[in-house]
Amino acid sequence: VIQGREVVVFRARSGAARVLDAHCPHLGAHLGHGGEVRGETIRCPFHGFCFEGAEGRCTETGYGTRPPPLARAGAWPVRELGGVVMAFHGPGDPWDLPVLDGEGWTRPQGHGWEFEGRPQEIAENSVDLGHLSVVHGYGAPRVVEAFAFDGPRIRVTLEFRRPLPFFGRLGPAVPVVAAIEQVGLGFAAVHAEVQGVGLQNRFVVTSTSVDERRVALRVTSSVRGPWASLGLRPLRLLDAVLATMTQVSFRKDVSQDVPIWGHKRALERPAIAEGDGPLGKYRSWARQFSL
Ligand code: FES
Ligand SMILES: [Fe+2]
Repeated sequence: VIQGREVVVFRARSGAARVLDAHCPHLGAHLGHGGEVRGETIRCPFHGFCFEGAEGRCTETGYGTRPPPLARAGAWPVRELGGVVMAFHGPGDPWDLPVLDGEGWTRPQGHGWEFEGRPQEIAENSVDLGHLSVVHGYGAPRVVEAFAFDGPRIRVTLEFRRPLPFFGRLGPAVPVVAAIEQVGLGFAAVHAEVQGVGLQNRFVVTSTSVDERRVALRVTSSVRGPWASLGLRPLRLLDAVLATMTQVSFRKDVSQDVPIWGHKRALERPAIAEGDGPLGKYRSWARQFSL
């Protein structure tokens, strides 16, 4: 569900991910309940009309008759990035997202939550330096490359010490440098590197308004081992272990934010303190997206 509209997501034979309005334009059956993918199309369970996914054109009826001109399903522009299928909703040109390089990265692993909130409050996390140590237990967070508010983007590079996942908060901490790129309110990509060992992590965080009250948060992670930079052959088994460990610890980090997000209230006039990060700047930046 995207802003109150139900959609179906399917993968066509060609491999392309497609997003269509869920309700069939013929008589309104739900394509996601009994619909079937046939080649490039999805077939409605009610009268067998087929709709191709790119433009929503009806390619055939279940009776072998000519498709009626009005039988066109609403088709959403789709982009797939970092293991996430995204559908564009809004005015203007759809996409201006970072290009993620594919070399040597493990397959993205993901997780999702749904709770009360709005995307702008999740995106605010990208600038909320204060919570990093309080909520996540990160040590000595500091800004390495200053916050840049640039059109629809925010970029920043941070450094902190992060406890290793399997030892808990009191275990040894490793230094991490993380470059964060927030694009709009619903998308962020984080590229993190564990210093000294050449292990890289990549996270994609997306949030979607389900309706006026709820938000769906989805995260994926993948890793790139130090093999290439060391001139070694990749150790696939170790990559798989590192990828799973990374997903588990990232999921744990986000699970620490979720109950706070789910119960917080958006304050118009927050009592900003030194150590907070540029929350005021963030708020003015975020205003460009309000309708
Ligand atoms: S409602 Fe979908 S084919 Fe009739
Ligand atoms: Fe957080």
